[in-house]
Amino acid sequence: MGKLHNKVAVITGGASGIGAATARLFVSEGAKVVLVDLNEEKGLAFEKELKALHGDALFIKANITVEEEVADIFKRAIEAFGKVDIVFNNAGIGRVHSSHDLDYSEWRNTINVDLDGVFLVAREAIREMLKQGGGTIVNTASMYGWVGSPGSAAYNAAKGGVINLTRSLALEYAERSIRINSLCPGFIDTPIIPEESKQALAQMTPMKRLGQAEEMAKAVLFLASDDSSFMTGNSLTVDGGYTAQ
Ligand SMILES: NC(=O)c1ccc[n+]([C@@H]2O[C@H](COP(=O)([O-])OP(=O)(O)OC[C@H]3O[C@@H](n4cnc5c(N)ncnc54)[C@H](O)[C@@H]3O)[C@@H](O)[C@H]2O)c1
Repeated sequence: MGKLHNKVAVITGGASGIGAATARLFVSEGAKVVLVDLNEEKGLAFEKELKALHGDALFIKANITVEEEVADIFKRAIEAFGKVDIVFNNAGIGRVHSSHDLDYSEWRNTINVDLDGVFLVAREAIREMLKQGGGTIVNTASMYGWVGSPGSAAYNAAKGGVINLTRSLALEYAERSIRINSLCPGFIDTPIIPEESKQALAQMTPMKRLGQAEEMAKAVLFLASDDSSFMTGNSLTVDGGYTAQ
């Protein structure tokens, strides 16, 4: 029997990269998955792919920064599968931009998706999990939530925020059987990283390669499943050694 037998997981950013790799692994471990993404074309194609593998999957097009749409994700997930046990709160954006040229609207947009959106999804998840008597949430932060880097002030500030949001929510709900942890990836080979940057980022990584989305999925499975049953408020860094430098 799989580690997630009969569990229902909502995965934001589920149409691509780390979210999609996690959805594949979760389905192979027996979970029913709700894929949430702005990208409808990719999301519907991926839903079809998972169903062809005999997985239970539902794609929902939604923007994690819009309160009503976030509430609707959980309403539809429960209509389809009856409950939500796991939320992989993972959708995000990232752009490199000099801070002195960064428009306030661009700053706001990054904080809005990468921090506000994470809060809105976590809040809705917690509301459901309180009714159900527990659950697990995994937020995607970044190794750049721990350390700085030039040209990514808004992203790094948001990801640092996700790490402390995780700690704070974890403490608030620890006694009510809701475990909340974060994943802090290093440079991972997904569409968020421009093709022309990949080689340089691999060289900046002590292991001299990019991580694979599947390597992140295994860490998410650990955080989401009973394998990490005594962990909460933790942020697990999986970065090929980058933050050890
Ligand atoms: N790839 C990396 O190197 C890396 C490193 C550290 C952290 N991360 C984080 O991992 C997460 C997943 O990124 P990825 O690498 O898989 O990139 P990705 O671009 O492949 O996937 C991100 C997905 O999120 C979706 N999305 C973006 N904004 C959204 C919104 N407002 N509402 C709903 N969906 C939205 C996108 O459509 C996309 O499908 C992000 O939070 C990212 O910041 C990635």
